[in-house]
Amino acid sequence: MPDTITIIDDRTGKKVTVPIEGGVFPASAVRELDPSLYIYDPAYMQTAACKSAITYLDGDAGILRYRGYPIEQLAEKSTYLEVAYLLLNGELPNKSQLEKWTHDVTHHTFIHENMRKRFVDGFHYDAHPMGMFVSSVAALGTFYDDAKDIQSKESRDKQILRLIAKSPTLAAMAYRFSVGLPFQYPDNNLSFPANFLNMMWKVGEYEIDPRLERAMDVLFILHADHEQNCGTTAMRVVGSSHADPYTSAAAAASALYGPLHGGANEAVVRMLEDIGSIDNVPAFIDDVKSGTGSRLMGFGHRVYKNYDPRATIIKKTAYDVFEVTGKNPLLDIALKLEETALNDSYFVDRKLYPNVDFYSGLIYQALGFPVAMFTVLFAIPRTVGWLAHWQELLNDKEQKISRPRQWYTGVDPRDYVPVTSR
Ligand code: CMC
Repeated sequence: MPDTITIIDDRTGKKVTVPIEGGVFPASAVRELDPSLYIYDPAYMQTAACKSAITYLDGDAGILRYRGYPIEQLAEKSTYLEVAYLLLNGELPNKSQLEKWTHDVTHHTFIHENMRKRFVDGFHYDAHPMGMFVSSVAALGTFYDDAKDIQSKESRDKQILRLIAKSPTLAAMAYRFSVGLPFQYPDNNLSFPANFLNMMWKVGEYEIDPRLERAMDVLFILHADHEQNCGTTAMRVVGSSHADPYTSAAAAASALYGPLHGGANEAVVRMLEDIGSIDNVPAFIDDVKSGTGSRLMGFGHRVYKNYDPRATIIKKTAYDVFEVTGKNPLLDIALKLEETALNDSYFVDRKLYPNVDFYSGLIYQALGFPVAMFTVLFAIPRTVGWLAHWQELLNDKEQKISRPRQWYTGVDPRDYVPVTSR
């Protein structure tokens, strides 16, 4: 069977044959047929906008790999910082590379005092931490003159280091501001996840349970990248205009903020609280199916038409965390919802399975995080995914400024009418 596709323009009889590689054929075939012919593809459902060597995802088989390594192995054996290095560099670090990388990230965790005193202190007392995070990421770029020097690898590497190292600091700062606690400076003697937990929770004496530190690290690993999702696409689109990485990452974080994307974990917990008891699960599911209620948040995925492999790991991690913190009372409702949905033809036929957000909120809540912080917890590790894609984009000679076309459906030309005659 030939690995080609032939497209015939029935209007002209012209035909073009192009290769299919990795399940993809170039849209230039359409351009060749007729340069003014476009493909209508809302939400880019059928469009591969870039080549990428970072993350492999097979939604039907429930497979997720970073640089070829199965997510299950990384979640079990690796650390977030090692995974960050892998995503950015393509290979796992050797011992000395890992030591240097860990040292470098650890020693870039502090932020300029003005960020806290002038910028963060200016927010309204009840500002949403994710709104604060989005704007702080953008504001951070204003402190670095060299941030705009995106053609220099040295400068890019420096900004990448800064963004990865400082995102937990910005996140913890947003939280402490929102509850009126004094800011806790980074402690460079701690691991990446432990430092974050310390900045969040330390008031007087604070000891981190190693099981919770590990759970935090696993959650960071699972959220580090997910190929061309809405946030990463925003990063690539804004980055393609050669904006600095802070501004581009702020755009990516803004996309993540929405309830259909990273905001879903927050929506899941609110949904479970609204349901209130397992007795109310059947009625809730009926409302979802009839369309009179909301969607079943934490279920369904644009790409996974099978159990999201991250959800399997998160469900297991939830039990590890509950061993330390005690069971989250919402767990029983979540389990009942999952069981009911997975045995209901509405969800089965549409291939709707739990996604990464279905159980992550329960862990975050058990760890003490307020619901408003959940998307911020997603944004901290996803920062590395955004940056890996940003770096790949800038090194890709086939990429240009993103500029899709439209299908114009407005009115035909008409003459302006003065307001007195309308
Ligand atoms: N509950 C009930 N019905 C659903 C759900 C859901 N969670 N998700 C999809 N459907 C139905 C939808 O109504 C449609 O039915 P029909 O064919 O009868 O019109 C069908 O399934 C296909 O849905 P879709 O909206 O075309 O699918 P999509 O690929 O555009 O949406 C999604 C993907 C994730 C936005 C959607 O499944 C959803 O809204 N899920 C709930 C929100 C959520 O959990 N988001 C987190 C996604 S994972 C983390 C991340 O990527 O950030």
